Amino acid sequence: MPSGPDHIAEGKAALDGSKALHVAIIMDGNGRWAKARHQIRTFGHKAGVDALKKTITAAGDLGVTHMTVFAFSTENWRRPAAEVSDLMGLLKAFIRSDLDRLAREGVCVRIIGQRDGLPADILSCIHDAHERTRHNSRFFLQVALNYGAQADIVEGAKAFARRVQSGEARIDDLTPDAFGGFLSTHGLPTLDLVIRTSGEHRLSNFLLWEAAYAEFVFQDILWPDYDGAALKAALDEFYRRERRFGAVEAGHVPA
Ligand code: IPE
Ligand code: IPE
Ligand code: MG
Repeated sequence: MPSGPDHIAEGKAALDGSKALHVAIIMDGNGRWAKARHQIRTFGHKAGVDALKKTITAAGDLGVTHMTVFAFSTENWRRPAAEVSDLMGLLKAFIRSDLDRLAREGVCVRIIGQRDGLPADILSCIHDAHERTRHNSRFFLQVALNYGAQADIVEGAKAFARRVQSGEARIDDLTPDAFGGFLSTHGLPTLDLVIRTSGEHRLSNFLLWEAAYAEFVFQDILWPDYDGAALKAALDEFYRRERRFGAVEAGHVPA
C-alpha cells in the first residue's frame, strides 16, 4: 500500500452497517462567475470556498458519506502565477479556519494528490488536517489538491513495480482491486456519482480509474452558486438512474 494515512480504512470499518455513498465534485465555473460580476477571478474562487462549506454541510444531511472534491489539478499550474498563489492561499485559509469545526463535527479530512511542488506551509496544513481528523468517521472529505488521475495511476504503477523489483510481490498479484490500493484514493468506497458544474462535460483528468462505473450528472450552475438544493437535485437524478454494472436490468431472471 502507498505510504499515506490509512485512517480512511479505519473509518470505513467504523461505517460498517450503514451504506456508503461516495460523490465526487468537479467544482467548476468560479472564473466565469467573477467575470459576470466584472471582478477578478480570485473573487470567484473566494465565493467558491463558501459554496464548498455549504455543500459539505448539506452532503452529510443528504446521506452522502464520502465526498471527493477537485480543488486544484496538476494542469492548473498553467494559470497565471497570481491566480495560482491566490488559490493556494484560499485553500490554506480554508483548512486553517475550518479545521476546528470539521474536526469537532466528526469529519475525516484527507488531501489527495501529489505532494511534490506544493509549498511548505500547505504541506504543514495537510499534515495538521490529517492528524487532527484521522479518527473521525461521521463523514469523509477528500480534497484533491495538485491532483491528476494520470499521474496518480503512473505513481501507483511505479509503486507496484518497486514491490516486484524488491521481491515483495509477484506480477500476477496485480488485480484491479489490488491496483486500487496503490492509488491516492485507496481505502475509499466505490465512486457512485461524479458531478460537474458550470455546463462543461469532461473529466479534466479527475478520478479516471475510480469513475469506471460512476454515474455522471452535469449541472449548468457556476460553482459559487452551488448549495444543498443543487446537490439534492443531482442526487435525485442519481437515484433515478438504473446501475447495471455490466449485468442485465434488475429483476431479470436468467433463462
Ligand atoms: C474552478 O473554476 C476552480 C479551479 C479550477 C481551481 P475555474 O477557475 O476553472 O472557473 P472557470 O472555468 O474559468 O469559469
Ligand atoms: C478542473 O477544472 C479542475 C478543477 C475544478 C480544480 P478546469 O477548469 O481546470 O478544467 P478545464 O481546463 O476546463 O478542462
Ligand atoms: Mg474551469
